[in-house]
Amino acid sequence: MISETPKILRTRNELHLWRNQQRGSVGFVPTMGALHNGHISLIHEAKAKCDVVLASIFVNPTQFNDKKDLEKYPRTEAQDIALLSNSACDAIFIPSVEEIYQNNIASLDFNFGSLTQLWEGKFRPGHFNGVITVVSKLFELTQPKVAFFGKKDYQQFLVISHWTKINQLPIEIVGCETIRTHEGLAMSSRNSRLSEVEKTAALAISKSLYFLRERKGIESLQETLDFVKNQFIEPAGVQLEYLCCAHNQSLEPYEEWPTEACVLLVAGWIGGVRLIDELEVN
Ligand code: PAJ
Repeated sequence: MISETPKILRTRNELHLWRNQQRGSVGFVPTMGALHNGHISLIHEAKAKCDVVLASIFVNPTQFNDKKDLEKYPRTEAQDIALLSNSACDAIFIPSVEEIYQNNIASLDFNFGSLTQLWEGKFRPGHFNGVITVVSKLFELTQPKVAFFGKKDYQQFLVISHWTKINQLPIEIVGCETIRTHEGLAMSSRNSRLSEVEKTAALAISKSLYFLRERKGIESLQETLDFVKNQFIEPAGVQLEYLCCAHNQSLEPYEEWPTEACVLLVAGWIGGVRLIDELEVN
């Protein structure tokens, strides 16, 4: 297959001109770069549903509550473009911080109750304000028909879906399955900062989720959570921020296994790297 280099758009003006030339439906995949197969799966989903696929690469400063995390965030533009050239991507928007924020690098305030206050909202204060701020700017500039988000960041997917709905935007938000290594580790740009030993330790995270899912309704929820913390999480040296079974829309935690479908959410640190994961349970 001959791959065609996607059109690179760096300014609002270039994006605007390209966007005006598009006649078919535009599928949009926003990213922060350091791309891996998880991102590429979103591109494939977009191509299956839309005529044209536009990706963006923008490391958004306002969503990093930890300045060091922003500084250490991997930036691999040439590699990212090469990877997108081998996928079904038609154009890539790669703006500078100035291009997006002009002279005001700040986020607006959003409060959607438990959806923005729990879990990531609690452990990363201001994170969702930054995410919604940048996604709203990107949506305005790119005018997509459909936008694709990974369920690896399950709460982000729900927050964006909710925000799009309450603002009555004519954009469909599609949630895509989490892509994992063959051993089960959820792919993440931050994985590149893990040593081989840490990568092995990180498997405790997905192992815990799969174990919990398998044991749903057998022992009590609390007993099962305690078991995986003692047997998987602690021995691997993962410093847990949260591990919960939550309602799959409100993200309120359950105290007992629910009979309905739910979602397992987890966040923890390995060395200096923060990882999150999710698993839907029927
Ligand atoms: P980033 O972490 O680069 O992720 C871009 C998109 O890829 C998100 O929708 C994320 O959920 C998805 N993704 C990441 N890893 C995945 C995996 N293993 N399987 C499936 N999808 C995966 O999320 C962001 O960037 C930013 O917050 C952004 C939405 C771009 C706003 O700045």
